[in-house]
Amino acid sequence: MEKLLEEKRQGEVLKTRIISKNSKKLYIESFGCAMNFSDSEIVASILSNNGYNTTTTIEEAELILINTCSIRDKAEQTVRKRLEKYNALKRDNPKMKVGVLGCMAERLKHKFLEQEKIVDLVVGPDAYKDLPNLLAEVDQGRDAINVLLSKDETYGDVSPVRLNSNGVSAFISITRGCDNMCTFCVVPFTRGRERSRDPKSIIDELNDLAKKNFKEITLLGQNVDSYLWYGGGLKKDLAKASEIQKASSIGFAKLLEMCAVAQPKMRIRFSTSNPQDMSIDVIKVMSKYENICNYIHLPVQSGSNSILKAMNRQHTREEYIDLIKSIKKIIPDCTISHDMIVGFPNETEEDHKQTISLMNEVTYLFGYMFKYSERPGTLAERKLEDNVDEQIKKRRLQEIVDLQQKHSLIRTKEFLNKKVEVLIDKQSKKSDNYWAGRTEHNKVVVFPKENYKIGDFVNVLTEQCTSATLIGKAIEYSKNN
Ligand code: SAH
Ligand code: F3S
Repeated sequence: MEKLLEEKRQGEVLKTRIISKNSKKLYIESFGCAMNFSDSEIVASILSNNGYNTTTTIEEAELILINTCSIRDKAEQTVRKRLEKYNALKRDNPKMKVGVLGCMAERLKHKFLEQEKIVDLVVGPDAYKDLPNLLAEVDQGRDAINVLLSKDETYGDVSPVRLNSNGVSAFISITRGCDNMCTFCVVPFTRGRERSRDPKSIIDELNDLAKKNFKEITLLGQNVDSYLWYGGGLKKDLAKASEIQKASSIGFAKLLEMCAVAQPKMRIRFSTSNPQDMSIDVIKVMSKYENICNYIHLPVQSGSNSILKAMNRQHTREEYIDLIKSIKKIIPDCTISHDMIVGFPNETEEDHKQTISLMNEVTYLFGYMFKYSERPGTLAERKLEDNVDEQIKKRRLQEIVDLQQKHSLIRTKEFLNKKVEVLIDKQSKKSDNYWAGRTEHNKVVVFPKENYKIGDFVNVLTEQCTSATLIGKAIEYSKNN
């Protein structure tokens, strides 16, 4: 089962935007996580003040930027193929410049420019504000690189141009980087240490989105529960903050509450939660405010304690199950999804069975499942051998994907023959006559369009379902409308 949002959007190009003062053309394509898609809109915003309009026609672009992902080897290979394609285009159009943004820029640094000579520009995730200077370097015939990771960059002062938005849902990034150091994960190396964004700028962005008629926001971070604002700086430097700063600091539960109160009609989601950092306060805030969606993406990665330990996840299987019990106690209808990795070094058949039994115990609504992919520089790569045979990884992945399919059907059926509130966000892929939207529990629902429109909150009576989708018919506008 693939990451619904992510896989679908791989290789998405930012839509054309024309501001008459601008004459140069930028083609920007994004891969990877939601944060990358959000970052590309920040980059478009920065470059629109420097003479660039976005275009979806690659041949007419003077500048091609590719926002890259390093999370698994496959992601990097996809980007490499794209770079070959761009280089072929460059041979026909020597004026065209190509730049690499994002996690691969950070991971491979000088390699693209110096050894492989396949790009003109390499810019890491914290250096986008330097793009105008770097482009000036390129214009003068010099290679340009900035892969410095920052202590305080959050782009809180850049208003992203939401070019690819449906006008209904938007992401608001609240933290950057990650301090967790899961041993398999490259993110702490490519995105640096964790820092939080000024809550005032988050609320300003939320209010601005409400004014523009957006109906749903997702607060975004690698590890949202660890959000902590004490006036700026790295989370790990908190000890150096003054007593006043510490006393007035704002954590995730408080931020969530501030958002819920600021826009009581806006649906509020967040992603992603790391179980070790998710507090009971957050769950209580969720239960207190109706506009915070009763859905949590709670990656666990494995059901085996020894694998969890080797992954440096700071909780046991039992603690994870306790957390889920607390969630269900406080919010009985809360749905939960997961991320799981199979084939981590030394994973035995018994460990794999533990993963299956954890899935059986929780019965997740859906999940994102992956084969372990060794990432250079991570602790797992340095200390452990990638010793689970590829065929075994494949088989284990298939087993959990099949199991999840069954569980998804069970969970989806719980919403059958019920009245559910749906926020319409697009046309159904299957039929032009149907709308598609999601419930607060993150279930996709499709139903005949009638006179409803994108952005409406509609009560739908569900009549049939597959494991992923509910099918029904609209009854009325919901009171939220
Ligand atoms: N906290 C992050 C996690 C980022 S990576 C978030 O915001 O979602 C997303 C998922 O990719 C992880 O939860 C993990 O399941 C998977 N992943 C990360 N590194 C991986 C690797 N080396 N091999 C396979 N899967 C990996
Ligand atoms: Fe990666 Fe673990 Fe952080 S999965 S993004 S190091 S929480």
